[in-house]
Amino acid sequence: MNYAPPPEILARLGEANVEEALRAFYVTRAGSSLRPEEIKKIPQLAGILPVLARTRRDPLLVDAAAGRAPVGLMAARLLGWSKVVVIEREPVRAASARRAAARAAGIQIDVREGDVGDADVWPRGAEVVVALHACGPAFDEVVDQAMARKVPWVLAVPCCYSDAVGFAGIARAWADHLGVASQAPVRRRFVESLVDTERTLRLEACGYRVSVQAFVPPTVTPHNLLWKAHRDGPGRRATEAEERWSRLVKGPE
Ligand SMILES: C[S@@+](CC[C@H](N)C(=O)[O-])C[C@H]1O[C@@H](n2cnc3c(N)ncnc32)[C@H](O)[C@@H]1O
Repeated sequence: MNYAPPPEILARLGEANVEEALRAFYVTRAGSSLRPEEIKKIPQLAGILPVLARTRRDPLLVDAAAGRAPVGLMAARLLGWSKVVVIEREPVRAASARRAAARAAGIQIDVREGDVGDADVWPRGAEVVVALHACGPAFDEVVDQAMARKVPWVLAVPCCYSDAVGFAGIARAWADHLGVASQAPVRRRFVESLVDTERTLRLEACGYRVSVQAFVPPTVTPHNLLWKAHRDGPGRRATEAEERWSRLVKGPE
């Protein structure tokens, strides 16, 4: 069941407020401005925050593969969430997230430098996991950790689909088996779609109700699909998904 946030919270999630909040966290010197990549994030944050807002009221949020933690920071600032844990493996970005969080009075954010695949980095009792542009296998590691913890809500946006994605080899084997055209753009789309299918069925088999929706137009980012997964436990959907998932991951006979 989705949470209905107060209208005044939703009203403050527009791009102008996101930009102002980003400035408060990241712009440290008079006369300087946001980095180009932060400016590009503004519509993405304005797109994902209303989805986050409708999960729970002040949940324990994990911002995974967080970079400089724009999502976690915006959740604290604009949604007023008070329990935010950030996981980022790259030390410079983790330190930058920590400094940004320290700049805002009254905001508590626990920044953990580590790998999202490492169970020890994760807090107990996470209620919402968000991963915006979790690259390659990071998407899968976030999903696996969230599923293992039965986290009620998972909001994840993949970006690059590298060969490091665990299922990529089997997806390519399916492409060969079915005689998919060898022209690179056709084959790539097929393989990426199978990778996305495996991810979706994996979540469903674990008892999540999954929707996949554009959270911004593709002109903002080509990686504009958000997996929104809400755990509602075992049932017929999960059983059917498990059966389809098993066939898929076995690969062609
Ligand atoms: C494309 S950036 C997105 C960052 C942030 N979520 C955002 O939207 O601005 C991906 C981030 O995930 C981090 N990352 C990738 N794999 C990771 C892993 N296995 N564990 C932790 N962080 C990871 C990278 O260091 C990078 O900062």
